[in-house]
Amino acid sequence: MSLIQKLLIRANRWHFVHSYNTIIARERKKYPGDLERALIGAIGSSGPEDFARQGDLQVDVLRHHGLTDGMAIYDLGCGCGRTAMALQRAGWQGDYTGADIVAPLVAHVKARCPDYRALVHRDLTIAAPDGTQDIVFLWSVFTHLYPEECYLYLRDMHRALKPGGKVIFSFLEFEDPGHHQVFHTRTANFAAKGWSSVLDSFLHRDWIRLWARELGFAEPAFTDGTDARDHGAFWQSLAVLGKPR
Ligand SMILES: C[S@@+](CC[C@H](N)C(=O)[O-])C[C@H]1O[C@@H](n2cnc3c(N)ncnc32)[C@H](O)[C@@H]1O
Repeated sequence: MSLIQKLLIRANRWHFVHSYNTIIARERKKYPGDLERALIGAIGSSGPEDFARQGDLQVDVLRHHGLTDGMAIYDLGCGCGRTAMALQRAGWQGDYTGADIVAPLVAHVKARCPDYRALVHRDLTIAAPDGTQDIVFLWSVFTHLYPEECYLYLRDMHRALKPGGKVIFSFLEFEDPGHHQVFHTRTANFAAKGWSSVLDSFLHRDWIRLWARELGFAEPAFTDGTDARDHGAFWQSLAVLGKPR
């Protein structure tokens, strides 16, 4: 295999690392000397208030799906700690692990939430022993991965979850008009420039149902992004996959 082929495989394998490093560099230029503001922008919040509001909403979703004190939870793609800081604010007590593929984001979680565990992990696996996690959750992470990458993660989440544990993740779907707009924006970029920046990817509920069956999860439950009955509207759709007892 030539050096170029090897480099291409490496770049494709870690496309997400390249994307997020690029976004962080862009935000650091916008906010020189204010690392926290830059990281907040890099993970998609419009500012500190939005960051806190979204973190509180994420905790509400977790509580609605059974989060209690004493649980072991795994925040995949934890970013700079939007959920971790909200959990800390809410006084939640338990065993938190945050994992991300970008070192400065993980360093920020460690600095702001010293009682929580946070690590850099890039292997499309869950860095936890078998059957140890009550909830694995992912906000706006599968939205940036290929379906194959999502599947590999889900397969390993099943291993890491306790019987009765849950995966909760957000995703984009074509059927939602707001999400579809993301696709049209990307399409316009492809037409004008031949590319669009960080990957925004879409899943289909039927694929998630099929994957759940293949991987040994129970039938998934879904929440529309506009549904505000049980917690604030999340904008992205939500899927919950339970590991049978
Ligand atoms: C939109 S941000 C959301 C961050 C966090 N979940 C939150 O809600 O604040 C997406 C995050 O996913 C991380 N990420 C991207 N690809 C990943 C991968 N393959 N595995 C784990 N995390 C990934 C990025 O580094 C980034 O922190």
